[in-house]
Amino acid sequence: TDPAKIRNFCIIAHIDHGKSTLADRMLQVTGTVPDREMRAQYLDRMDIERERGITIKSQAVRMHWATDAGDFALNMIDTPGHVDFSYEVSRSLAACEGAILLVDAAQGIEAQTLANLYLAMENDLEIIPVLNKIDLPAADPERVSREIADLIGGRPEDILKVSGKTGAGVEELLDSVVHRIPAPVGSADGPPRAMIFDSVYDPYRGVVTYVRMIDGNLSPREKVQMMSTGSEHEALEVGVSAPEPTPTKGLAVGEVGYLITGVKDVRLSKVGDTVTAKRKPATEALPGYTDPKPMVFSGLYPLDGSDYPVLREALDKLKLEDAALQYEPETSVALGFGFRCGFLGLLHLEIISERLRREFDLDLIATAPSVIYQVTTDDGREITVTNPSEYPDGKISSVREPVVKTAILAPKDYVGAIMELCQSRRGNLLGMEYLGERVELRYSIPLGEIVFDFFDHLKSRTQGYASLDYEPMGEQEADLVKVDILLQGEAVDAFSAIVHRDNAYSYGTMMAERLRKLIPRQQFEVPIQAAIGARVIARETIRAIRKDVLAKCYGGDISRKRKLLEKQKEGKKRMKMVGRVEVPQEAFIAALSGD
Ligand code: GTP
Repeated sequence: TDPAKIRNFCIIAHIDHGKSTLADRMLQVTGTVPDREMRAQYLDRMDIERERGITIKSQAVRMHWATDAGDFALNMIDTPGHVDFSYEVSRSLAACEGAILLVDAAQGIEAQTLANLYLAMENDLEIIPVLNKIDLPAADPERVSREIADLIGGRPEDILKVSGKTGAGVEELLDSVVHRIPAPVGSADGPPRAMIFDSVYDPYRGVVTYVRMIDGNLSPREKVQMMSTGSEHEALEVGVSAPEPTPTKGLAVGEVGYLITGVKDVRLSKVGDTVTAKRKPATEALPGYTDPKPMVFSGLYPLDGSDYPVLREALDKLKLEDAALQYEPETSVALGFGFRCGFLGLLHLEIISERLRREFDLDLIATAPSVIYQVTTDDGREITVTNPSEYPDGKISSVREPVVKTAILAPKDYVGAIMELCQSRRGNLLGMEYLGERVELRYSIPLGEIVFDFFDHLKSRTQGYASLDYEPMGEQEADLVKVDILLQGEAVDAFSAIVHRDNAYSYGTMMAERLRKLIPRQQFEVPIQAAIGARVIARETIRAIRKDVLAKCYGGDISRKRKLLEKQKEGKKRMKMVGRVEVPQEAFIAALSGD
């Protein structure tokens, strides 16, 4: 295709503002998907995505659109809307010349609208603001148009109004994609450079790599090279999604399509990397490649210890399709054998544990999420701690914790409630701005405080109206301590936590109290203590009982007696021993989940 007849664009929106629904309508209006084959959220392929209505992996699709200026190929790149995947969002944006900024006409601008808008502006994209869901009775197009015009300039009355549900305004929107978004530019016969903006694992075809040709072209059967690793592969198939994968004779400058090389592991074909051709290799990779770094860590343990090999296999499989997932074996006194896993964020954690449950039929316990701490000991050693149990016991000269820059958007009535919450989580106000009836609050907050149910609290304090976005902002030194929870003097590793000194006491008393209620009485008294090093900061006691199962057996019915004893033995199987104390596994799970 002549690059002048190509338009590459994406849709950026806050979660639930209707991106997938609008994409569906575009596929229909352009005749890309015939009406009889249409189903909701056509581009969201994973079951989990469809059920939860979120887009995890970005996808590209080619559509044809005829206008008075001729026939055009429109490549639409669907981007994930969630902060955990912001690296993937930014790569998808880099593959486009323009973006549709979609805003729900009833909700108005939200935190991810802004975050994605700023990313699009950094990538110099032409932005087409669009109001969606104008069919809703609660829609307030005038107010929201003003909000948008205040934010990005232009006149409120020029903002397009559409409904992804009814299809109203969608044709006009496609016309303005053609008229307003610039055609791609690049060197048609220079050394090929294709940017990978997505890489998905397909069990039948191996890794399918989605690319945007920035310069030159790629053909099937030629040798290609990944520039970050130097690894070489044969391009077995090259094609476009229209929307089903359709092989082509090649991909030329400006085009968006896919590449199949037969590799089985997405780590060999990483998002952000540059693909070049062996016949005419580029010398310089495209800018902006970074390895996605896990930010949140949690231990995953099978409920049934014999499932451990299944869990290992499942993680190996998921890793093939998710380069950002990290894991290594770990053992816990309380929970047995498991894995320490690293995730991009909380949603990523949730998605992986959900897939393990669903696709591999695993029952799992996850320990409380933790972040990366950099600890310097008095003798000058630097230790990276992702698990409280690795926290050094000796003298510590400093601890640094990750900090994120958060943006919270909410109706202005909630300013007080939000400030209170952020302050209680050691937040520092960076700035505050009013956008009509809404306010944007910017705080720096330690990530460790965010991963700990911050979003739930934010939602409940604002009756669900606040939205949150965050990005890494470096590290800061903090007065952190490790709190251990001891049963009869034995630390239970799964409950150790790294917390701010001011919160140590409340964490300790909360856990001690929970465990007192959850652990059954033993034949002896069991003290529960919370301690920082050797210093006990909270204490509870489980009083002793003598549990005499045989007392129930009046008379001398020996078989009945035996049965009872066997039953008791069976019950013991699911018990974990912490020192001399028997703890049912359920108690650990309940204490961890806060039930
Ligand atoms: P993520 O993939 O999670 O980012 O969500 P999304 O932005 O793709 O939103 P989605 O298309 O899943 O729509 C969210 C909800 O809004 C769904 O319940 C849709 O049915 C509804 N919705 C989308 N567009 C419209 C519209 O134009 N009018 C009305 N009334 N509802 C809409």
